[in-house]
Amino acid sequence: MLNIGVLVSGGGTNLQALIDACNNGVIKSGKIVTVVSSKADAYALVRAEKNGIATAVFSKKDYGTKDELDEAIAKYMKDQGVDLIVMAGYLSIVGDKLLRAYKDRIINIHPSLIPSFCGDGFYGLKVHQAALDYGVKVTGATVHFVNEVTDGGKIILQKAVYINDGDTAESLQRRVMEEAEWQILPEAVELICSGKLK
Ligand code: GRF
Repeated sequence: MLNIGVLVSGGGTNLQALIDACNNGVIKSGKIVTVVSSKADAYALVRAEKNGIATAVFSKKDYGTKDELDEAIAKYMKDQGVDLIVMAGYLSIVGDKLLRAYKDRIINIHPSLIPSFCGDGFYGLKVHQAALDYGVKVTGATVHFVNEVTDGGKIILQKAVYINDGDTAESLQRRVMEEAEWQILPEAVELICSGKLK
């Protein structure tokens, strides 16, 4: 069993998908041991507590530099015995110190088909608005490894979602979550934990 640490900042629906996957056997080779939030009021923390999962908050304002913050997160993850870090709606950039401590052991979910609508500045509803503005007919979600390039690490899984006439950024965000993110994130975690992905 691999120990999983989840990084969050917001509502935590992807965290919920991971918790559900652990309960229903989609994830059987890993266990969520801690949820770390960049924000003290993230609803994701409530979801973790309801499921008896340890939580911690690491807020930028409590640290002098980004390096100090990332070092503190890396130390906490190591202390908790975390093997794999999953970014599930984590709105900070993972810096060098954390990347080095967990080289090739950090994954992220992005709500588009990378390499479209990704990189610096593409987060939340902006990603979906950019897809609508461009006029693409298909979008989706991507799970990828995290490296020093924003959304630039190796792709693990992707799933496509059709854009409907009349879609808004909000309706599209919801459908991409339901039809893609909540499925492929747990699948990718199990692939890694079971050692089926090298
Ligand atoms: C998701 O759209 C995810 O792809 C993005 O941030 C959002 C997080 O939502 N990285 P939630 O906190 O998991 O509900």
